[in-house]
Amino acid sequence: MPSDDTRILLRESELPQRWYNINPDLPAPLAPPIHPGTGQPLGPADLAPLFPMELIKQEVSMEPYIEIPDEVMRVYKLWRPSPLYRAHRLEKHLGTPARIYYKNESFSPPGSHKPNTAVAQAYYNKQEGVKRIATETGAGQWGSALSFGCCLFGIECMVYMVKVSYEQKPYRRLLMESWGATCVPSPTDTTNAGRTILAKDPDTPGSLGIAISEAVEDAVTRDDTKYALGSVLNHVLLHQTIVGQEAQAQFKLAEDYPDIVVGCVGGGSNFAGACFPFVKDKLGGKQVDILAIEPQSCPTLTRGDFRYDFGDTAQLTPLLKMFTLGHTFVPEPIHAGGLRYHGMAPLVSLLVSQNAIEARAIHQLGTFEAALTFARTEGSLPAPETAHAVKVAIDEALKCKDTGEEKCIMIAYSGHGFFDLAAYEKYMAGDLEDHEYSREAVEAALKELPEISEPAA
Ligand SMILES: Cc1ncc(COP(=O)(O)O)c(C=O)c1O
Repeated sequence: MPSDDTRILLRESELPQRWYNINPDLPAPLAPPIHPGTGQPLGPADLAPLFPMELIKQEVSMEPYIEIPDEVMRVYKLWRPSPLYRAHRLEKHLGTPARIYYKNESFSPPGSHKPNTAVAQAYYNKQEGVKRIATETGAGQWGSALSFGCCLFGIECMVYMVKVSYEQKPYRRLLMESWGATCVPSPTDTTNAGRTILAKDPDTPGSLGIAISEAVEDAVTRDDTKYALGSVLNHVLLHQTIVGQEAQAQFKLAEDYPDIVVGCVGGGSNFAGACFPFVKDKLGGKQVDILAIEPQSCPTLTRGDFRYDFGDTAQLTPLLKMFTLGHTFVPEPIHAGGLRYHGMAPLVSLLVSQNAIEARAIHQLGTFEAALTFARTEGSLPAPETAHAVKVAIDEALKCKDTGEEKCIMIAYSGHGFFDLAAYEKYMAGDLEDHEYSREAVEAALKELPEISEPAA
């Protein structure tokens, strides 16, 4: 009999001590990253200008679990373990027999799941004597999280923020500056990548692909600087798995287990963090549906191709085998800024291609409606990214109302929307529209890509 508690809490002493690495449990091997210059698989030395060696090792590790260092644990305890909530009031409002839970990552200092990896990345950089880290940010959540992590470990932080988000969200920049970081609107005229884009299109809204090019160029052209990425890569997803492991312990306490786990996907990190421990159960034979939700305006998993592509616009990053809309993709300025990336984590991509995860694309107006339903019942106002997961959880709970099924649904509640009030204002004023990105546009963008076949194992 599931418990009736509203907040299912773990003690500090019950924090998982290890991150879960899904790599050895995958149903098919992960394709190696390819060097953009040589067309050959990358070696650790190729990544050394960008990342500290410990993170490079984690990127390719086949160990099933990796110990979390004590210093990272001490910082995690500022907000972890995060609560698992039972959404009693939302269930009642919907009149559903479903049980809805949400694993709430919005209580971290920057307001999302992102510091789970930002703190770890800052720590490993500090260990290897790095003085300065450059990064990009879309919605501003990752930039804030890395600013916070760098601040705690005494590292300088340089953030290239996608121009449209920089303009939509001035308070995110101020939060980064409060933690001592520098934040500039991308594209800038201080990098070659930025200048090239600006020469072609001076009014570009920017994109994550462009901002990544600028941050990577910054890191590789300076001796004192490394680069950090807030999603997509294996080590980033690894650090997020503390979320799903906590959730599993909390479900044990609640004497329940989800039939459906649902999360939003931008680059795939919050989704992977919350879901991979459940994917492990699923691969072991357990019945659980795992749903990855993306916007119709950036439908990477549902309308992209699964193939090698660059992670950035200027083609500076390694090629990754992933679902992609093409690295030249410049999205409509929809308000879930963190979901506007052209690619997807190779680990999430592989699991979608193997049907272990189901992907769905939804429109933004429905997500804002769901977000307000959530805020008006549960109180918490989700980030527009998070609202994608909330919307599908509500849809699934309403299906249960029709069928009478008493399903258990877990939402990966990745962050709050307090810095997204301008988007909510537009929605409430009726000024937002739905956008759809067509398959034809994807095909046109993918035509420009080199055909790279997977190296033989
Ligand atoms: C609150 C929130 N959720 C989700 C995302 C999407 O990123 P990812 O797919 O890496 O979790 C972001 C990205 O900025 C975010 O800020």
